[in-house]
Amino acid sequence: MEVVILTDPAAVGVCVADAICRLFASKERVNLGLATGSSPLATYAELIRRHAEEGLSLKGMTAFMLDEYLGLPVGHPESYRTYLERSFVDLVDLPNDSLLGPDVATRRPDVACREYEEQIRAAGGIDLQLLGIGSDGHIGFNEPMSSLASRTRIKTLTEETRRDNARFFGGDVEAVPRHVITQGIGTLLEARHLVLIATGEKKAGCIQRALEGPIAAMVPATALQLHPHVTVVLDQAAAGQLALRGYHEETFRTKPDWQGL
Ligand code: GLP
Repeated sequence: MEVVILTDPAAVGVCVADAICRLFASKERVNLGLATGSSPLATYAELIRRHAEEGLSLKGMTAFMLDEYLGLPVGHPESYRTYLERSFVDLVDLPNDSLLGPDVATRRPDVACREYEEQIRAAGGIDLQLLGIGSDGHIGFNEPMSSLASRTRIKTLTEETRRDNARFFGGDVEAVPRHVITQGIGTLLEARHLVLIATGEKKAGCIQRALEGPIAAMVPATALQLHPHVTVVLDQAAAGQLALRGYHEETFRTKPDWQGL
């Protein structure tokens, strides 16, 4: 696991955008896993800027959703599909229908979960999966006590997550759906490269537990310790509680350029 500690969220966005651009330079078709929440916004903004100002093309990309709410009407402004369209996908040259996700409009969401797994597999797997982290240590919507071998499935959100996400629903916890579909932890561990982004002091505690704590279903993000290629990109504030902070900073400062993330 590589831990990169940068000055601020904008620098985090540039660093992760660099990694994505490197991937595009190395292969024609890229399967990119997209996360929601505020953490990846600086990365999306940087990719949008490069598209508008520097001619970056994302035509070769298929985008895969990490998770989605169940029970919101199609096109709801806070559905993750709408969020991703509004903050990234519609602002670059991604062909129509290139944003794939579980079908949450169906009456059989359990079947939709299996179909989504199949879609990921048929596309050849995800090259780079972006992740944020919840304050309770969740990745995607894999809440505490999620099986570390879990596949895409329906989950019930914790009260803590619904409170955290109420800010997107006018502060109303009751408006936040209780049920979601999320890629499972076992599914995520099959992506070839996992990039976890966290910024701000509020994330310092869960980042410390995820990176330095024992692997446990109670902190789902600890499962990242089992993956051979994980990059965690933090700002100073989110790295504030890491015991090995100095080591990570030294490692990154002395890293050869050609290595990439
Ligand atoms: C939601 C998403 C997660 C995300 C988390 C953190 O719960 N399902 O994928 O990591 O929010 O959000 P933020 O980046 O806004 O802190």
